[in-house]
Amino acid sequence: MPSLAFLPPFASTPLARTEVLTSHQSLLPLTAEGLTFRTGDRVLVDIETLSIGSSGATMILGPNGAGKSLLIQLLHGLIVPTTGRISFGGRPIDTAARKRQAMVFQRPVMLRRSVASNLGFALKAQGVGRAERAERTARLLVEGGFEKVADQPARTLSGGEQQRLAMLRALSTEPELVFLDEPTSSLDPQSTLAIEEMVARAVKRGVKVVMVTHDIGQARRLGHEMIFMHHGRLTEQTPAANFFDQPESAPARDFLAGQILT
Ligand SMILES: Nc1ncnc2c1ncn2[C@@H]1O[C@H](COP(=O)(O)OP(=O)(O)O)[C@@H](O)[C@H]1O
Ligand SMILES: [Mg+2]
Repeated sequence: MPSLAFLPPFASTPLARTEVLTSHQSLLPLTAEGLTFRTGDRVLVDIETLSIGSSGATMILGPNGAGKSLLIQLLHGLIVPTTGRISFGGRPIDTAARKRQAMVFQRPVMLRRSVASNLGFALKAQGVGRAERAERTARLLVEGGFEKVADQPARTLSGGEQQRLAMLRALSTEPELVFLDEPTSSLDPQSTLAIEEMVARAVKRGVKVVMVTHDIGQARRLGHEMIFMHHGRLTEQTPAANFFDQPESAPARDFLAGQILT
């Protein structure tokens, strides 16, 4: 799947100018109402209301096939809902506001370019000028420990390195909101730790993170708020402090108890 910066503008109904989110307004709360995604007669996502407003990391947890990836793609505007509305700070999103959010996928999406150019291209897509781009790319290469491989094709890096680069690239444009869809699910423990550290640092800097995981340990390590999904529905949204000891919904309880949900 292509990365955010290279997609066409968000497909939405044209709106009156005054309704559109300007660059000064917060993207939060992120809300959805009557959100469904169907194919044929299958309802794959069915969410009455959702509001993500708090700072920190909101983790979307649930078994395989629950609809987590579809939900995060809907929220990020990569797929169009069958019904429902998604709002950012009370308003529909526009292209400018869309540039303030980024996404990282389960498998790293690298352009057929060098490591440095993968970073530079993302900055260019955001309208960063040549001189500033060069300076910021150099800084990011150091930050990520990629100086020695800066000119190497990004696709020759290991999976873990590519995913670290994907994270670095997503954060390079200083987004307000980042969507992460199981970015560590195909990585070894060391690379997983490196990604988790990047997530935690971003949260500390004030970036809002919405992250899908099926890993209870990861949800516990990173999450401030938990959303549980099962069969396309949201079964609960609970502060992390309560969720692990007192989940409110039966599916979450069973999942935390190690049962396989069907
Ligand atoms: N584009 C699609 N078209 C049809 N069915 C899909 C599509 N994407 C996902 N699905 C189905 O929707 C369900 C939820 O998928 P997904 O959101 O990927 O689950 P999760 O990320 O929680 O594992 C699964 O049954 C999956 O097979
Ligand atoms: Mg998924």
